[in-house]
Amino acid sequence: MRITMIGSGYVGLVSGACFADFGHDVICVDKDEGKIAALEAGRMPIYEPGLEALVATNVAAGRLTFTTDLAASVAGVDAIFIAVGTPSRRGDGHADLSYVFAATEEIAAAVTGPTVVVTKSTVPVGTGDKVEAILREKRPDVAVAVVSNPEFLREGAAIGDFKRPDRIVIGTDDEAARKVMRGVYRPLYLNESPILFTGRRTSELIKYAANAFLATKITFINEIADLCEAVGANVQDVSRGIGLDNRIGAKFLHAGPGYGGSCFPKDTLALLKTAEDFESPVHIVEAVVKVNDSRKRAMGRKVLHALGDSPKGKTVALLGLTFKPNTDDMRDAPSIAIAQALRDAGVTVRAYDPEGIEPARRMMPELTYCKDAYEAAAGADAVVIVTEWDAFRALDLPKLASIMTAPVLVDLRNVYRRDDVEGAGFAYTAVGR
Ligand code: UDX
Repeated sequence: MRITMIGSGYVGLVSGACFADFGHDVICVDKDEGKIAALEAGRMPIYEPGLEALVATNVAAGRLTFTTDLAASVAGVDAIFIAVGTPSRRGDGHADLSYVFAATEEIAAAVTGPTVVVTKSTVPVGTGDKVEAILREKRPDVAVAVVSNPEFLREGAAIGDFKRPDRIVIGTDDEAARKVMRGVYRPLYLNESPILFTGRRTSELIKYAANAFLATKITFINEIADLCEAVGANVQDVSRGIGLDNRIGAKFLHAGPGYGGSCFPKDTLALLKTAEDFESPVHIVEAVVKVNDSRKRAMGRKVLHALGDSPKGKTVALLGLTFKPNTDDMRDAPSIAIAQALRDAGVTVRAYDPEGIEPARRMMPELTYCKDAYEAAAGADAVVIVTEWDAFRALDLPKLASIMTAPVLVDLRNVYRRDDVEGAGFAYTAVGR
C-alpha cells in the first residue's frame, strides 16, 4: 500500500519506518527542511533505540522516502496519516490543534482521488469531525474518510510497541476505510494483535482515558509511598502485593519522583479541558494533575532534607535528567523541579545524563554538566538518582563514597537495596521504604 505520514517527529517517524518495514511504500513529510535533509543523510532528529537502523534498512530497500513537499506526497496514496504535534496551548492547557488543521487544509488542496485521512496525533474528542468538515467543505468532489488511530508508543521502546502492540484502535464507521486500515496493519492483524474497531469519538477518548489511567496509577502508588514512609511500610512490597491481583496488574506501580514526558502531563490537562467543555468533570484526573505537580517539588525538599540542617553552600550530584531512561527527552522531567528547588536553597548542582545533557543544558544552563556519574559525584554532599538509566544501577558504591565529601545517596527510583548502600558507608534515602 502507499502511505503518506505528515509530520516526521517522534510518532510520525517511528510509525512511518515501521509501516515501511511492514512492506508498504511510505513517504514521511515535514515542513522542517533541516530535519528532512538530516533524515535523507541518515541522521535521526531524536534518540530512539533501533530507529536509525530501521530507517536505513527501509530507505535502502526503497520503501521509505522523505520530503518537504506535502502536496506532491498525497497524490494517489491509500492513506494519509496526520502525525503532527498537538502541544498544550499556552495559557489554557487545551491541545493546540493548529498544526492538525493546517495539515488538513494542505491535504484538502492536494488530494487527487478517494483516500483515507488518519489522525495519529493525540487529538481531543471531536477533532476528527472538524477534520472531516474541512475536507468536505474544501473538496466536496473527493471521497475522503477520516479515521482516528491513536498511538500508544512509549519513548525508548517505541519500535517494539509499534510492532507488538497490546492493541490497535481504529475509529471509523466507514466500512471502506476499515478495509484500508486492515490492509495498513495487515502484518499485525495476521499476528493476531487485537484490533478494536469503534466509533471515531470513542477512539479519540480511548487515548486520553488510557494515558489518564496510567498517570492515575503512578500517582496513586506515589501517594501510597508517602504513606509507607509515614507508617514504616515498604512500597515495593505493597506494589507487588496489589499488582499480583490480575484486576490491578503489576505495571505502572513503581513509586518515583512523579511522571513527566511528552504525553502524560499534556494529555491529562487536555482531558480536563474536554471534560470542562462538556461539563462532565473528571475529578480524579484533576487530583492526579495536582498531586503530580506538587510531588516534583516535594522531591526537591526530600533531597534538601537528606542534606541535613543547612543545605546552603552544599553540592548535589543529579544522576539522570531525562523524564525516563533511553530517551533524550527533557519535557516535564522531574529533574527540572528538583534542580530548581536545590538552587533556590543555595545548593550547587552538578549533573550527568547518558543522553540528555544537551537538551538539559538548553533548559538549565546554570547547572554544571559532567561526563559521567563519578565526575558529577566528586566532592558532592549527596548523589541523587533521578532517572533509572542502566548506567546508575550498578555504580561502584565504595568508589563513589570515597570521592564524595559526604556519602549520602537519595534513590528516587528505588534501584538499590538499603543493605548494599549502607554497607558501602552511605546514608540512604529511598522512596516509600
Ligand atoms: C506514555 C504512554 O506509556 C504511551 O502509551 C503513550 O503513547 C505516551 O505516553 P512515555 O511518555 O514515553 O509513554 O513514557 P512511560 O514509560 O509511559 O512513562 C511516563 C512517565 O511515568 C515517566 O516519567 C516514568 O518515569 C513514569 N513512571 C512510569 C513512573 O513513575 N512509574 C511507573 O511505574 C511507570
